[in-house]
Amino acid sequence: MARNEKELMSIADERIMGTYRRFPVVFTRGRGTRLWDVEGREYLDFVAGIAVCSLGHAHPAVTEAIGEQAKRLVHVSNLFYIEAQIEYARLLTDNCALKKVFFCNSGAEANEGAIKLARKYGNDHSGGLRNEIITMTSSFHGRTMATITATGQEKFQKGFHPLLPGFRYAPFNDLETLAGMITERTCAVMVEPVQAEGGVRLPAPGYFTGLRRLCDERDVLLILDEVQVGMGRTGTLFAYEQEGIIPDIVTLAKAMGNGFPLGATLSGEKVAAAFEPGSHASTFGGNPLGMAAARATLEVLLGEGIIAGCRDRGTYLLARMEELRARHGIIADVRGRGLLVAVELGCEAAGIIARAMKRGLLIASAGPNVLRFVPPLIVTEQEIDQAAAILDEIFKEGE
Ligand SMILES: Cc1ncc(COP(=O)(O)O)c(C=O)c1O
Repeated sequence: MARNEKELMSIADERIMGTYRRFPVVFTRGRGTRLWDVEGREYLDFVAGIAVCSLGHAHPAVTEAIGEQAKRLVHVSNLFYIEAQIEYARLLTDNCALKKVFFCNSGAEANEGAIKLARKYGNDHSGGLRNEIITMTSSFHGRTMATITATGQEKFQKGFHPLLPGFRYAPFNDLETLAGMITERTCAVMVEPVQAEGGVRLPAPGYFTGLRRLCDERDVLLILDEVQVGMGRTGTLFAYEQEGIIPDIVTLAKAMGNGFPLGATLSGEKVAAAFEPGSHASTFGGNPLGMAAARATLEVLLGEGIIAGCRDRGTYLLARMEELRARHGIIADVRGRGLLVAVELGCEAAGIIARAMKRGLLIASAGPNVLRFVPPLIVTEQEIDQAAAILDEIFKEGE
């Protein structure tokens, strides 16, 4: 007999390391924008695995691609050429300004690849002098040792010292301070196009063109972490497209496989040449099963007008949240790009999230007082209305 919610949660608390403060719900099934828990309750999912399931849960094309690939070949080593990997590499780079890719399994790993590539390139071109990386305060780049070091927020680093040497932090949206920090030791600047975990902070107009110019003038690589914002989330396949720049290195992960764990580090030919056989590797990186999922995901994203829909729905979601702001003083700010939308509150976000969950709406946070909406890109206006109505009720009660 299947275990109930209580039994499952108690096993989890006993057997799984306590790295997450989990909400008391156990999910078993999903379809499109909906999730069902083990007790059969239905939820409207505006978390989407934190910006992962952009095509919605159990998208038929992705499910079929995984099934078909699993029947043929699940895994083979990167010691050999892999058909599914080659086909996806071609499709991805056909749609990206950067034409070389390294595949891995997560956002942190994609950023590790970017950090290693930038250091290798910098060291190779300077007799070992240029290997420092400047990242931004309030950034987030992952949970490995290198990526918590890159992350410009102490709360993620606390207890894990010593961190890696060779990182410095500049304030986001401040080119003047950054310019003063770049030295002959700097090999790269690493930045998110929109700081997502850090509170959905948007770049100031012209910030990225200025940053690109500065990096060119000082001969420093520009790394964009598109792990959360890439693959259509902000209304273009890559967020950099909206800034009118081409970075030197881009990282991707979350939405690449619509839930299949994948990551990628992309760069131009010249930078990619710093990686030689033996420089970097990942057993599962680019494995056939993941690549089949990624290819199906990207084909649907590109082929069905989903990214244009994301722009429209993003505008609609922002407008609905602005309406709520006009009615409820507890909302301090509303901001976002595409379907990465934040509602900043004058109170803790956790209580609001728990109350929304009780009413069947899942939302994430981005810092202690920011609600973050990252629904599947296929979300409808009706579903946005439903979410707005639930929040309206909650804010009414609270006041
Ligand atoms: C911008 C950014 N970079 C890196 C990561 C880390 O990705 P992962 O959790 O897949 O390692 C995240 C995850 O939230 C992210 O938002």
